[in-house]
Amino acid sequence: MPRLVLQGSQWGDEGKGKITDYLAQKADVVVRFQGGNNAGHTIVFDNHKYALKLLPSGIFSKHIKNVLAQGMVINVEALLNEIQTIKEQGITSFQLYISSRAHVIMPYHLDLDGASESLLGDNKIGTTKKGIGPCYTDKYARFGIRIADLLEKDALKARLEAILPIKNKELESYGLKPYDLEYLLNLGLSWGDKIRDHVTDTSILLTEEIKKDSKILFEGAQGAMLCIENGTYPYVTSSSPLAASVSINSGIAPKYVDKVLGIMKAYTTRVGEGPFPTELNNSLGDAIREKGHEYGTVTHRPRRVGYLDLVVINHAKRVSGIDYLAIMLLDVLTGLDLKICYAYELDGKVIDYIPATLTEYQRVKPLYVSLPSWNEDISKVTCYQDLPDNCKAYLKKIEELTSLKISMISVGPSRENTIVIEDLL
Ligand code: GDP
Ligand code: IMO
Ligand code: MG
Repeated sequence: MPRLVLQGSQWGDEGKGKITDYLAQKADVVVRFQGGNNAGHTIVFDNHKYALKLLPSGIFSKHIKNVLAQGMVINVEALLNEIQTIKEQGITSFQLYISSRAHVIMPYHLDLDGASESLLGDNKIGTTKKGIGPCYTDKYARFGIRIADLLEKDALKARLEAILPIKNKELESYGLKPYDLEYLLNLGLSWGDKIRDHVTDTSILLTEEIKKDSKILFEGAQGAMLCIENGTYPYVTSSSPLAASVSINSGIAPKYVDKVLGIMKAYTTRVGEGPFPTELNNSLGDAIREKGHEYGTVTHRPRRVGYLDLVVINHAKRVSGIDYLAIMLLDVLTGLDLKICYAYELDGKVIDYIPATLTEYQRVKPLYVSLPSWNEDISKVTCYQDLPDNCKAYLKKIEELTSLKISMISVGPSRENTIVIEDLL
């Protein structure tokens, strides 16, 4: 199974970074294929904690080729800062390849993200304000600037001459300051100079690796419910984090994607606005938030917390395909009252799908099955058999209600707090 997608299956922050890092120890290549520095992936090993936003979670192993593929939107300054940070943390030797076709987050994208959110007022999305939406908007409007443009003065000048009058009009319409072409040209070229050695056609690189039968991990950012196509629109991000988008976003043929590992928390969290049927606005929610340290890596906002919702997981499974599940943060549920949502009630009818409209989704009432809790500390458990019976029953219920096999269980943030049931690489 040499090419595996790690896909967030809820509203993001499922622990994708931890599992990518764990599996990366056996991989040859790790690819980020969408999103940008709206992502925050936390990795813990050897008593060190790393927070990655743009860099793939294979960056800690010298032998791994780490790829930022063409479907990403890259804030070059943020990338350079992140590289500086990991160097200061002692990670000085790594392989990084940046797609020449990836789009660049420009300073005006940040301004526009903030301005549109303010104008939306109570209807705001609750974005990370990293310019993600405006950058993808420009990509699809064909007003984007790509990494390759930063490497050649004439190319960047031509792009800015075409685009900037339009962007400045937009900025002025929000009462924001327009940008000077020379300023952006010099800024862009200085970024280009700093990343030039890492830039390549990553589609060619990946296709070569596939020919060699290399083990490739595709590290999703965000999660299925934040997918622009299949999520809780408009409370979503502006890309598709699903395995289905790996091919187009990486420049490889779809037949090369072998298997999908759906990463999910043992409960549910969400950052930002939007419907969340199993949300717990009570002391149990607060207890989970504190035990799970559920505060955003990027914006430090407290995450909204709720019971496990398997309608969400089954939705993710249907729209993209999930072959195996990784259950994360199981340790957090120790000693707590346990319920799993298996369906919703909508206007008196039982449904097992996510309604398309927000109004309907806001009306659904979760239907729960209750399960007995366990009180034993599971954070040191390394094999499935040693888990308490009630814990196993919780996991079995997930398998039964999703018809999916659990291949990995995480019982703590660190590499060693991982139970492997089936080896996927
Ligand atoms: P990602 O965005 O999907 O990579 O997830 P984040 O890193 O944003 O959030 C997951 C959080 O849970 C991080 O703080 C991880 O260190 C932490 N974490 C991951 N797995 C476990 C686990 O099994 N138990 C506990 N207690 N924390 C975990
Ligand atoms: P990782 O990879 C959780 C959310 C934001 C907001 C919505 C749109 O760490 O799982 P955006 O800035 O993308 O336009 O914001 O999406 N969001 C995330 N939530 N984890 C993430 O990434 C997220 N990336 C974006 O909070 O609700
Ligand atoms: Mg995160």
